[in-house]
Amino acid sequence: MRILIKGGRVIDPANHLDGAADVLIENGRIAEIGHGLAARGAQVIDARDCIVCPGLVDMHVHLRDPGQTHKEDLSSGTLAAVRGGVTSVACMANTDPPIDHPTVVEYVRSRAKQVGRARVYPVAAVTKGLRGEELSPIGSLAAAGVVALSDDGRPVMSAGLLRRAMAYARMFKLPIVSHCEDLTLSEGGVVNEGPIAAVLGLKGIPAIAEEVMVARDLLLAEDTGAHVHIAHVSTAGSVRLLREAKRRGVRVTAEVTPHHLALTEEALQGYDANFKVNPPLRSRGDVEALLEGLQDGTIDAIATDHAPHAIEEKLVEFDRAPFGVIGLETLLGVVFTVLVLPGHLSEVQAIRKLTVNPSRILGIPRGTLSPGAEADIVIIDPQREWTVTPEGLASKSKNSPFLGWRLRGKAVTTIVGGEIVYSDQGENSGFVEVPPTTGRDLCRDIEEVAQ
Ligand code: DOR
Repeated sequence: MRILIKGGRVIDPANHLDGAADVLIENGRIAEIGHGLAARGAQVIDARDCIVCPGLVDMHVHLRDPGQTHKEDLSSGTLAAVRGGVTSVACMANTDPPIDHPTVVEYVRSRAKQVGRARVYPVAAVTKGLRGEELSPIGSLAAAGVVALSDDGRPVMSAGLLRRAMAYARMFKLPIVSHCEDLTLSEGGVVNEGPIAAVLGLKGIPAIAEEVMVARDLLLAEDTGAHVHIAHVSTAGSVRLLREAKRRGVRVTAEVTPHHLALTEEALQGYDANFKVNPPLRSRGDVEALLEGLQDGTIDAIATDHAPHAIEEKLVEFDRAPFGVIGLETLLGVVFTVLVLPGHLSEVQAIRKLTVNPSRILGIPRGTLSPGAEADIVIIDPQREWTVTPEGLASKSKNSPFLGWRLRGKAVTTIVGGEIVYSDQGENSGFVEVPPTTGRDLCRDIEEVAQ
């Protein structure tokens, strides 16, 4: 089976490539990148006026499977992923039961193999039951093939326990993905602390609730030599702490979400719970600092924190609604519309933060078009305009903060392991859903990671 992608602008930050070229896929792998390629019998995809780059790697996704499959599951979540150009996701451990035991890892991997459209990399809980009291069996979770450790959704409040987790994480070469929130400072809060919270009559979560924990985790990482990855950075103070720590050589990486870049706390004025996230949407000044952090390399990756919640769960009083927004299908459109179009990031910078950087953080062999690599590719039409509507989203949940937005930039073809898993040919035309190929081993690479 051969696919020839002709005439696109190939951007592959891992190999410092940016220019017009053809890409030839053979037997599921990248065979060649060059000019005027021809291949007899190949399926030809015309990529004129499009960007051809590695499939996106979203290192922060809640797939809700097992246990909360009314919100999302491994099938709907990975379908949403490939429709957004995402070919690999790291799925968080706050499922029910949590991913704190090798049997749950095994469930996620085997189910993903059966029904997954994208590659699924499980993240394991740092502590049993995400309770923050006792470490998970980190060695056997590593052997089962997890790519990181995280209690995301909750912080590990005990510094002593986290320090021990870091010692193990380092031994097993796993990053700790840290949800930085001091619960004693954030308790009861639902929006950013400040004048807008006061006007809305809602309790605030102060920036310092995040920053205290970022500072603590940076010190612990320095102390233990472990790799700490700071999830969903949202404040100017966190960016400053990260910048200083990186300068000192601490093993730290960080991610920011599209919603923390595209929106501020002002979006909360209508009490719409589709803007309720943790950490909360912050101030204009924070957003500017996040942009600077992205530009100067302090923030390494853009990740969605895709957090599906059912409509009835969000349609309650603001205080009682769960935190979280979906993001897989709007990732590319928001990044191109909000970051690339206005010139905050170049296409190459944006794609680097969506491909090779998250792959390297997780230690997975993705995010590259190197010859011989498995062909995970997204073809992006950067000019394609489309409107975000609930009906247009494949995710089981519709809690997007971007409903009604007109975005420019869209995945038009997504390829995983050399198979076209999604192809969109027109404005909100629905999608061609390619059923998963049973038996295709999307988890094979996890085994490689585990070895
Ligand atoms: O908004 C959020 N939702 N933040 C988190 O950290 C967890 C997530 C969820 O699981 O719903």
